Amino acid sequence: AKNVGILGMEIYFPPTFVQQEALETYDGASKGKYTIGLGQDCMAFCTEVEDVISMSLTAVTSLLEKYKIDPKQIGRLEVGSETVIDKSKSIKTFLMPIFEKCGNTDIEGVDSTNACYGGTAALLNCVNWVESSSWDGRYGLVVCTDSAVYAEGPARPTGGAAAIAMLIGPDAPISFESKFRGSHMSHSYDFYKPNLTSEYPVVDGKLSQTCYLMALDSCYKSFCHKYERLEGKQFSLSDADYFIFHSPYNKLVQKSFARLLFNDFLRNASSVDGIATEKLAPFSTLTGDESFQSKELEASQQASKPLYDAKVQPTTLIPKQVGNTYTASLYAAFASLIHNKHSELADKRVVLFSYGSGLTATMFSLRLHEGRHPFSLSNISTVMNVAGKLNSRHEFTPEKFVETLKLMENRYGAKDFVTSKDCSLLSPGTYYLTEVDSMYRRFYAKK
Ligand code: ACO
Repeated sequence: AKNVGILGMEIYFPPTFVQQEALETYDGASKGKYTIGLGQDCMAFCTEVEDVISMSLTAVTSLLEKYKIDPKQIGRLEVGSETVIDKSKSIKTFLMPIFEKCGNTDIEGVDSTNACYGGTAALLNCVNWVESSSWDGRYGLVVCTDSAVYAEGPARPTGGAAAIAMLIGPDAPISFESKFRGSHMSHSYDFYKPNLTSEYPVVDGKLSQTCYLMALDSCYKSFCHKYERLEGKQFSLSDADYFIFHSPYNKLVQKSFARLLFNDFLRNASSVDGIATEKLAPFSTLTGDESFQSKELEASQQASKPLYDAKVQPTTLIPKQVGNTYTASLYAAFASLIHNKHSELADKRVVLFSYGSGLTATMFSLRLHEGRHPFSLSNISTVMNVAGKLNSRHEFTPEKFVETLKLMENRYGAKDFVTSKDCSLLSPGTYYLTEVDSMYRRFYAKK
């Protein structure tokens, strides 16, 4: 199979959200801390009728419907998630009724988990399957689904929720340049979920920022190395049109791009112009560790702003509006790019950086083509209807948001309850949770 990659995408996020500005006031944080300091606008969250399973049911059924895919045509289904609902039964199996109904139970794949990286693991697996000798000619389907919630404190404004479904196959408008991949994997305690009675992670915020940036450096080095070996020339920021980052909050994305420019500067790459060189020169002798801690270096990285505006800013809409959606975050950023630029993306190269705490990270490259209906960039943009979905949301007050999280804390891991079944805020076609019975079995309905 040639040009294997993403044929179609659908995104779902809850219609319920809180404004970061209102949350700042409510939390007693200084004005601008969440909006400018973290760079976030709004945060979506699940109410008691939604969870990672309902969101993925919604995304998958909508994708199949809108691209007119017969469920029998799916040969592999993989889910990436770090939201634990069951320690054994995969989220993938909750999606099987969609396919069983059509007589298709011949579908490989289970869930992948490592913090925000599981979606990328699932995606690479599916792409590898289509490229392999075990491919049976059918489509792969990847689902990234997460509800990111944090305990009260500084991490709480970095939550979010969404599910993204991606159809995988040959001759794709979004194809993988599979030879260019750089990974970095190591052992760290930056963010993890050891407490199985709570949905909330244990998080060392500062360490997670440094781990993320170190992994970025390392992946970029490997990526450049592989590119140079295969293409016989240096890779720099000039060689890709867009850079897309896992987006816990926008400030880290700004820092990440600046970090790549600093890497290019240290390698004397052509992407760094005279002004940037002048600004970064005083930092050329810093050790790696020093460079991660230097506030002065960060300030001088304003030099990357014009390039950031061109190559990153168009990818930031959904992550800023919806928040950190963990496994879906990187692909929500990618969806933002397609939404903003779908008519100008033909022949463009996009480099993506996926990060999951603990830690696992990969940088990889995609090549975009216009494609043919229904698998065209413009149709993907139409199907996702990002503006429509963002505009039809319902704002909750911080009080109501906190109340909802309290209720969800009690519901986490609980059995024998019925939900309010109130689906008035959900749009038609959305799945919602109705009941968890005395055997912890979960029941969903479709609006
Ligand atoms: N106006 C403008 N900026 C402000 C203001 C203000 N009033 N107040 C603070 N800031 C800035 C700070 O200077 C800082 O910016 P800087 O990083 O450029 O210096 C930023 O806002 C954040 O302020 P901090 O005091 O550093 O924030 P805090 O430590 O309270 O929390 C953190 C931030 C660590 C990101 C926290 O939200 C967290 O732990 N989040 C979860 C972990 C996470 O997302 N990690 C990222 C990778 S791992 C993953 O994806 C889960």
